[in-house]
Amino acid sequence: MMLPNYKEARKRQKVDYKTIKYKIDNKYINSFNNKTYFIKTYGCQMNEHDSENISAMIEELGFKKIEDYEKADLVILNTCSIRENAHNKAFGMLGRLKHIKETKNSNLIIGLCGCMAQEEGVIDQILNDYRFVNFVFGTHNLYELPIILDKTIKEEKQVIEVYPKEKDLVEGMPVKRDKSYKAYVNIIYGCDKFCTYCIVPYTRGSQRSRKKEDIIDEVKTLVKEGYKEVTLLGQNVNAYGKDLYKEYGLGELLEDVSKTNIKRVRFMTSHPWDFTDSMIDTISKYKNIMPSIHLPIQSGSSKILKLMGRRYTKESYLELFNKIKEKIDNVSISTDIIVGFPNETEEDFKETLDICEYCKFDNAFTFIYSKRENTPAAKLIDEVSLEEKEERLQRLNNVVNKYFLENNKKLIGSEVLVLTEGISEKKDMYYGYTETNKLVNFTGENINFGDIVKVEILEAKTWSLDGHVK
Ligand code: 5AD
Ligand code: SF4
Repeated sequence: MMLPNYKEARKRQKVDYKTIKYKIDNKYINSFNNKTYFIKTYGCQMNEHDSENISAMIEELGFKKIEDYEKADLVILNTCSIRENAHNKAFGMLGRLKHIKETKNSNLIIGLCGCMAQEEGVIDQILNDYRFVNFVFGTHNLYELPIILDKTIKEEKQVIEVYPKEKDLVEGMPVKRDKSYKAYVNIIYGCDKFCTYCIVPYTRGSQRSRKKEDIIDEVKTLVKEGYKEVTLLGQNVNAYGKDLYKEYGLGELLEDVSKTNIKRVRFMTSHPWDFTDSMIDTISKYKNIMPSIHLPIQSGSSKILKLMGRRYTKESYLELFNKIKEKIDNVSISTDIIVGFPNETEEDFKETLDICEYCKFDNAFTFIYSKRENTPAAKLIDEVSLEEKEERLQRLNNVVNKYFLENNKKLIGSEVLVLTEGISEKKDMYYGYTETNKLVNFTGENINFGDIVKVEILEAKTWSLDGHVK
């Protein structure tokens, strides 16, 4: 049994990692034919992409995917630790699975992975109170799933295999992509920023970049397979290359990925502190790098930003924001905001509202601060009541939503390029996203999924646009 360990996870010395190739022993292939699985993914795009690898690995073993977890032989929960409600959702689902195991299917195999698996407290709970969970693996040993699953099924005992610290980078894991035209491509794992509220540096480990050649090869293969869009993923993509190269960072990588001639390149998430002028120049120079930047601000108060350990001030964020707006044509900027951080006064909160009035973000993900055990912010005295936090969230949402609608309205009558993804069942219209990452529902003839079409915008809503193909 291998267990998570926060003390180890917190350490940052120079990481000496190798890149190794995924391989699976032939004896595992198709060893579980006729069995079915269901996977539930919580949290961010990194988790979604991990689930694409997990699905492919399990299918190599012979499992078939089904959509009804009550009928599955194997259920895997790929979990998220970022806020308490993500925890609660996963534990709620475990409760439902326990019931199924007790009443309908005593052979049900339940697995848990993702960020919660890296938490000491969660593993203690699973060892003590959730004995019906058959196996757990962490974020650093995804590639060992076939061995762990085989051991679980054959040995019929609870298997917990979580590495307290990151190990090597594994290339060549199989992948079963959810979408046919858009693909996620990891470029950097882990995070070294240690924002004081955030659990990610503990659950995802040290910052480690994939080799540029491996990334570019993956994108070239995707182009050959007909993919139109890639999103380069990382907790902080702007730190790409820092641990590997002297003079090759996100700007250079974007340039090389753009030259593969993939139709659309996106990247997320960007930490404002690592955003260089040369990255901005590259984004503005290449037409296939999408003018859409996710730039979390978290708070508009420099005092709170300092307590959050964000390494920028309100003024320096605004300087960067203005530079991006000025240099990249037609750019859209989205953000993340936390309200109710310990010590946030009404004045601090008003600074957040003010900056939202100024920036008029195209999209914003807003959250109430959630205390995460063992993070530095957990030691701060939190005097803001939940009621107050909820009220602030509401007031903030009113402001940001107003600008989503205002920005969308400006597009009425204009023509935008949309990558067609499918048919929206609710509306019986095609849907897709603009270059600036806005959702468009539209009508038109002779359109195939995957086509990039020119759409005239006829109507604007807060979270979407309606239009017709020109
Ligand atoms: N509480 C609330 N929101 C958080 N985020 C990260 N940690 C926390 C937390 N403890 C938010 C940040 C981050 C986004 C992915 O989640 O805004 O950018
Ligand atoms: Fe968390 Fe900050 Fe790293 Fe983002 S940059 S993952 S908020 S520690």
